[in-house]
Amino acid sequence: MKIIVTGGAGFIGSAVVRHIIENTVDQVLVLDSLTYAGNLASLKTVNKDSRFSFSKTDITDKAAVMEQINAFQPDVIMHLAAESHVDRSIDGPTDFIHTNIIGTFTLLEAARNFYDKLPASKQAQFRFHHISTDEVYGDLEGTTDLFTEETPYAPSSPYSASKASSDHLVRAWHRTYGLPVVITNCSNNYGPYHFPEKLIPLVILNALAGKALPVYGNGQQIRDWLYVEDHARALYLVATQAEIGETYNIGGHNEKKNIEVVEAICHLLDELQPADKKYSDLITYVNDRPGHDLRYAIDAEKIHADLGWKPIETFESGLRKTVEWYLNNNEWVNDVKSGAYMSWVEKNYEGRK
Ligand code: NAD
Ligand code: TYD
Repeated sequence: MKIIVTGGAGFIGSAVVRHIIENTVDQVLVLDSLTYAGNLASLKTVNKDSRFSFSKTDITDKAAVMEQINAFQPDVIMHLAAESHVDRSIDGPTDFIHTNIIGTFTLLEAARNFYDKLPASKQAQFRFHHISTDEVYGDLEGTTDLFTEETPYAPSSPYSASKASSDHLVRAWHRTYGLPVVITNCSNNYGPYHFPEKLIPLVILNALAGKALPVYGNGQQIRDWLYVEDHARALYLVATQAEIGETYNIGGHNEKKNIEVVEAICHLLDELQPADKKYSDLITYVNDRPGHDLRYAIDAEKIHADLGWKPIETFESGLRKTVEWYLNNNEWVNDVKSGAYMSWVEKNYEGRK
């Protein structure tokens, strides 16, 4: 198969590309505009493979997207390109509206134009897979409920509202124009190549640098953590095997309070890279995120029942692999710690003290 992966230089996109190149005979074309979050170094292990290609393309540029799609003739488009960080969306929502909504609209129109001209045999094979988040469902505060595929949308942040909008566009293009789509909504990912503005890599790298470990509010907020390679496996299964029009929730069955996550990282670092003091001494409670969702948790039973997927990593095994990866990959870490990382992450921390 020929698969286009938008956002393939990002955290999850690069895991999807590595998964496809390493485990299948498929060809991949990455379309990525290389924002601060996109990094070609995350594709270093696969970029010499003849089945891999890359184009620096902005998904909001319809002519450029059409040109790439027509030249590559994909069987599947996996759409991951997005602005993805909640705190940045609060700081400045414009890029989120532009990329996540206008970008998805542009890609849908380009895909529709391409699909409509395909012969029937190729149309039967074609899929547009939209990758989304559990944050579209909003906050599960004060309940023991889990998000199912039927949970009504109630996004809280500019990020989740923009992702919710994009999900609605994708469903509308299926119903109105017959575009063959599948959608997935996943919980918080963690693992190698994660940009250190998100909680887990930020805490690992700040701890190693002896800097404060910022915990928003009281640290009691709950996320359902999934190891990124488990997500990549699930995405490939859905893109290649799901029925047209289906939605799948993907999650790790790993509900953890933020403070538990931070403490678990500190314990691992105490063991793997002991310092003079315990890393947990660096934990610093800071001002909360506005509109902060208190709890997310996924019911991933449908993807298990229909496609046989379940996560391989436990939170303990995945977190250990992640911490070890950051300890052993200084080149990648030093690369992302320059420029955009230092300026925005440090500004965010200063603003919360
Ligand atoms: P990321 O921020 O690490 O990567 C996003 C990628 O998209 C980057 O390579 C960036 O350069 C690219 N990009 C941004 N704007 C673009 C544009 N206009 N044109 C082309 N490329 C552009 O994000 P991620 O964590 O890998 O998330 C990937 C997708 O998965 C997103 O759609 C996100 O909403 C979704 N998701 C993420 C998580 C998570 O925990 N990280 C969980 C569920 C769903
Ligand atoms: P994050 O990794 O930004 O993912 P999301 O907001 O998409 O869930 O944050 C995960 C949780 O960690 C979230 O509840 C906010 C919290 N958090 C902190 O407490 N400190 C931090 O420095 C960051 C980045 C996040």
